[in-house]
Amino acid sequence: MIYLDNAATSFPKPESVYRALDHFARHDLANPGRAGHKMALAAERALDDARHRLNQLFHGKEPQRFIFTLNCTDALNMAFKGVLIEGDHVITSNLEHNSISRPLRQMELDNHITLTRLSADGGGTVNPDDVRKAITAKTRLIALTHASNVVGTVQPIAEFGRIAREHDLLLLVDAAQTAGVVPIDVQTMNIDLLAFPGHKSLLGPTGTGALYVGPRARVGAWREGGTGGDSSSETQPKEFPYFLEGGTPNVLGVAGLAAGVQYVTEKGLNAIREHEVELTERLWRRLDELGGFEVFGHRDPTKRVGTLSFRSEALPAAELGGILDQAFDIAIRPGLHCAPYIHRALGTFPDGAVRVSPGAFSTAEDIDRLTQALSEIVA
Ligand SMILES: Cc1ncc(COP(=O)(O)O)c(C=O)c1O
Repeated sequence: MIYLDNAATSFPKPESVYRALDHFARHDLANPGRAGHKMALAAERALDDARHRLNQLFHGKEPQRFIFTLNCTDALNMAFKGVLIEGDHVITSNLEHNSISRPLRQMELDNHITLTRLSADGGGTVNPDDVRKAITAKTRLIALTHASNVVGTVQPIAEFGRIAREHDLLLLVDAAQTAGVVPIDVQTMNIDLLAFPGHKSLLGPTGTGALYVGPRARVGAWREGGTGGDSSSETQPKEFPYFLEGGTPNVLGVAGLAAGVQYVTEKGLNAIREHEVELTERLWRRLDELGGFEVFGHRDPTKRVGTLSFRSEALPAAELGGILDQAFDIAIRPGLHCAPYIHRALGTFPDGAVRVSPGAFSTAEDIDRLTQALSEIVA
């Protein structure tokens, strides 16, 4: 199959990730920190190693501030439920994935918080001036994506960070589409909370993700339980990462994630992004030549990650996706991409669009096979 759905989860993974998973599962898969035996210590070391790699990649304050989660959604929920208190005001945007929109909307409906949802411009960028203007005396949090999973536009996160710091607010960044392809420095960008999956561009397995908790953010524990360390304490130990990491972690997945982080670090994030963006540029040019397709997002490739969404005048997105899968063995993602607000703004609600997201291992030939298939389908 030609897999062009890397914005959902990356496939394939590097060989080094498969090797790390296999080796860890066969030799070290004990419960980390729960016992003093050699295997438990090896498992604990795997977690430490991954935290150190993530800390270097994102220039965190210290490795213990990276809390392992199941995915990006889990990290975002941990942040919202641990940070927001009754009466808080939150600023977000219409670019957001449901993993931001739904928990915030539910809190708004429960009268727990108030919410301002800013609209991105036609290219898919949230204007920092709009963020500044939306701040009220009650604002505690600015929660925005680093890059849209529909139009791929990379947001001016450092400017949002500056605004957050000037007004003594917290900035939460959803790096689901950028972690592993766009360099992020949480300290210079003033990011207080960084949520990211391990299974997309960091090239780890599913079931991995993390929340970075900066020193200005107070996050209450939303999952309490065993930590393997101080079992005598009646409540969750205050020490990071244990405070937010109750229960047996996905140490196997994290061992794979560490290998993924090593791979992207060695390849270079910019090189991977350039490769992916070049492939989407190739697709965009070809769609223009074919005619009958409307492509969404910013035309300037320096403002994007390698994700391209479009619609066809000839066929609804779901139908195109079905034919590509069944007749051509090509995997893309049709629909609303868990981001209904931006599809409303694009005029593609409720049918959605076709999203093509090449990955680190996709090739120009994959794109050519896709465009050939599209031309046959619409003809
Ligand atoms: C922008 C964005 N945020 C959050 C998520 C949720 O990520 P996960 O599936 O790891 O929970 C996604 C997934 O596609 C995404 O694209």
